[in-house]
Amino acid sequence: MTASPAREPRRPARSEASDVRTVRLCLLGFGHVAQALCRLLGAQERVLRERHGLRVLVTAAGTRRGCLVDPAGLTPAEVLARAGHGPALPQAPLPARDLLAASDADVLVELTVMGDLSAATNAVPYRPEATAHVLEAFRLGMDVVTANKGPIAWSWPEVSQAAAAAGRRIRCESAVVDGLPVFSLLEFALPDCRVLGFEAVFNATTNFIVDAMGAGRSFEDALAQTQADGYAEADPRNDVDGWDAASKAAALANVAMDAGITPADVERLSLRDVPLERITRAREAGRRLRLVTSVWREPAGPTGPAGEAGPAGPVRACLRAEELDVDHPLAAVGGESLAVLLHTDLMGDILVCERHALLPQTAYGVYADLMHLCRTG
Ligand SMILES: NC(=O)c1ccc[n+]([C@@H]2O[C@H](COP(=O)([O-])OP(=O)(O)OC[C@H]3O[C@@H](n4cnc5c(N)ncnc54)[C@H](OP(=O)(O)O)[C@@H]3O)[C@@H](O)[C@H]2O)c1
Repeated sequence: MTASPAREPRRPARSEASDVRTVRLCLLGFGHVAQALCRLLGAQERVLRERHGLRVLVTAAGTRRGCLVDPAGLTPAEVLARAGHGPALPQAPLPARDLLAASDADVLVELTVMGDLSAATNAVPYRPEATAHVLEAFRLGMDVVTANKGPIAWSWPEVSQAAAAAGRRIRCESAVVDGLPVFSLLEFALPDCRVLGFEAVFNATTNFIVDAMGAGRSFEDALAQTQADGYAEADPRNDVDGWDAASKAAALANVAMDAGITPADVERLSLRDVPLERITRAREAGRRLRLVTSVWREPAGPTGPAGEAGPAGPVRACLRAEELDVDHPLAAVGGESLAVLLHTDLMGDILVCERHALLPQTAYGVYADLMHLCRTG
């Protein structure tokens, strides 16, 4: 999404000889998504050069345990090679602020984690570390691409205002539905269309657990199987206790509906509290239990004396276990698929569904955001 009018990239380096523009990246976080992105950028190197006139170099990559800074820039394949199979970045870690400054990059690709939300409430507001990373990038004149829900879900007013003030842009296609183009759909394909609300199945880990419980397994068994199959995190609390879905709901509502909410405003449900019998009974009755996130706007306030529209009502959101008829658009969204049913004013209901919400799709969403910044910068 564009938080400000598109401007020239900060430091386009165009080689006179080849007319290829170099884009310099700072990768903050070098886990699954960052490595998948490096593999994708490596595989696309020729397309980037021949079709888009671009050369993508990484001038810095960092985690809490190590970093790699090379002011001349490394190709994504070189970064992967330098990290080895560990993978471990070979230099001593730098604080994020210093890494960003040392990178002298055009774009921060923020791929750190949201953190443990188990203690977050409205009374104890949570501030993801990533928010500070993003703000620092704007201060240094960089655009930002992130797959991290944190800054969008918890700090969107601050982040979007800082981007506008700095004349920079932030894009986050992979933060909500693993690369499925939802933000781009709204931004580019649906001009003047207002999102009135949405319903979504946002979390694949809980999909797997619900499906396994539907086949008669206990919650603990189903969770262990989902972890063994590599679909659930070692620490599954954000997924199982609804924080992941609540964060995605807040992020999409903030950007698409100007909701001004945080995940703590979303009425949550933990899958631990859904009895096995309820899931199996729904299945026996020919229905499908799904964890559905619903977001809607309350009716506007009273109209003014001259008939002018009243103030917009607040946005509400909840995550509930719903027993859906098999022909409900979200009933078939299980396993590794995810979907959002958008309710709009000009286009009615639009279902966007991703059959395989996996690492390559997430990396592709980051790639698509980068391409957008490069094409329009
Ligand atoms: N995996 C997916 O399919 C997927 C899908 C959609 C969205 N996402 C989002 O994308 C982001 C990255 O996911 P991932 O799967 O790549 O996670 P991951 O494999 O756990 O990697 C996270 C990386 O961030 C680093 N990190 C964490 N906190 C940091 C900090 N404060 N400063 C510097 N580095 C830090 C970690 O290294 P250290 O521990 O050494 O610091 C690690 O390199 C997350 O926000 C995730 O929610 C992931």
